Amino acid sequence: MRFSGKVALVTGATGGIGQAIVKKLRSGGATVVTTDREGADFCGDLMEAGFCDALPFEVMKTQGRLDILINNAGIITRGKITESSDEDFTRTMAINIEAPFRLCRAAIGIMANSGGGAIINTSSWWGVHPGPDHPIYIMSKAAIASLSQCLGRDHAHHNIRVNAVCPNEVNTPMLRTGFSIRGLDPDTAIEDLNASVTLGRIAEPEDIADVIAFLASEEARYICGALVEVNGGKPLA
Ligand SMILES: NC(=O)c1ccc[n+]([C@@H]2O[C@H](COP(=O)([O-])OP(=O)(O)OC[C@H]3O[C@@H](n4cnc5c(N)ncnc54)[C@H](O)[C@@H]3O)[C@@H](O)[C@H]2O)c1
Repeated sequence: MRFSGKVALVTGATGGIGQAIVKKLRSGGATVVTTDREGADFCGDLMEAGFCDALPFEVMKTQGRLDILINNAGIITRGKITESSDEDFTRTMAINIEAPFRLCRAAIGIMANSGGGAIINTSSWWGVHPGPDHPIYIMSKAAIASLSQCLGRDHAHHNIRVNAVCPNEVNTPMLRTGFSIRGLDPDTAIEDLNASVTLGRIAEPEDIADVIAFLASEEARYICGALVEVNGGKPLA
């Protein structure tokens, strides 16, 4: 029970990767407080600054401690810059980067006063190696990668390790909905994508959750400010 006695806060907890993270942390003995738009312990919109600022303090109020923060929630915004609206930009930055900024700021204050902690942010392979036709999403994922490195550096002396995971394609509603919007059958499209990965398949949510749990655990005690690429060897294919 590697997370015995630990309290974790997970955003986007009812989504594809989020559910797998919650399950994995709980199986290791953690008390997990979940947040999402609906179906979670704390329901709300991460676009609301006050909601984000308050969440870590709500965890303190209900659980008495906060050891692990997982900034997993995110949205994908598609289309070239010429097809992008002001609202696309504002919304993506608010959810993918401003919310993690607010949550990290509050959580680091709490963790610094209680001996330390671990924060894992979800970036993307595209956050470190940009791809086509998603400039707003990719910029937001690059920003969260950078934030993770900066905070990993600035708060190591508080015994707070901040790291990011950078997945490639993961079989979740985010990916499947994208195929449906483009008129493709998600199962067939995923079969095609599988062929593009060295390990022969795209990731399942558990493949990402296992790495996040590792980074949250004492086993990753010497990993700090890292961008961990979890991609099945795709770039080698
Ligand atoms: N699926 C992929 O291929 C892939 C690849 C790389 C990175 N990622 C990243 O992984 C993370 C999880 O994505 P997923 O694939 O599980 O997607 P998902 O759509 O299944 O889950 C995302 C969750 O975030 C929540 N969320 C979104 N906007 C919110 C808001 N305004 N307020 C509160 N909650 C909100 C959603 O309700 C949802 O439960 C995201 O940050 C995503 O960018 C996903």
